[in-house]
Amino acid sequence: MTEKPFITRIVPEEFRLDGADSLSITTVKDMASIFLSKSIAATMQDRIVYRVTKRNVPLESGELLQCITEILPGDCDGELFMTKGHGHSNSACAEIYLGISGRGLVLLQRGNEFQAIELEKYKSVYIPGGWNHRTVNVSSEAPLVFYSIWPAQSGYDYDAIFRNPFSKRVFKDGSSYKLVGVQ
Ligand code: PA5
Ligand code: MN
Repeated sequence: MTEKPFITRIVPEEFRLDGADSLSITTVKDMASIFLSKSIAATMQDRIVYRVTKRNVPLESGELLQCITEILPGDCDGELFMTKGHGHSNSACAEIYLGISGRGLVLLQRGNEFQAIELEKYKSVYIPGGWNHRTVNVSSEAPLVFYSIWPAQSGYDYDAIFRNPFSKRVFKDGSSYKLVGVQ
């Protein structure tokens, strides 16, 4: 159990959690099985897609994890930069995303149910347990930055998005975006 109160702070314009214990960087190479166009992804291997700074606590019931995700602007053959997406191993565990900067979409999938919810500064999205979730940066100019907080015993289930893929992918459409159904 965490014994003492502590603070974190979002470092303005650096979009990271001050006092974070870890920084993880995800490149196109790490998402080879995720983007639709495998051939274009193969030409963009080291391009950074997103960075996550996370504050660790014991992975015990009652504890809360928090992180900042920064998704860079960009696309892979028109498919906008996004997170891998996952479900929680403990499907009872919910999560809250709070927009900090930029414009995004949170894709949510539970069985055949699909939702896409816009994320922006000061707006929060409550993700109930049992919904797979992925976040997309819909701007081609600015990063999308959001804060997440979730129970420490949630765990990550990255296979969930292959067992039950998101019904739609998000592509660039001029200066906007479009949702395209997956066959
Ligand atoms: O806990 C969350 O849902 C987020 O903090 C994500 O882990 C983060 O946005 C990165 O996405 P992913 O875990 O799908 O790579
Ligand atoms: Mn999550």
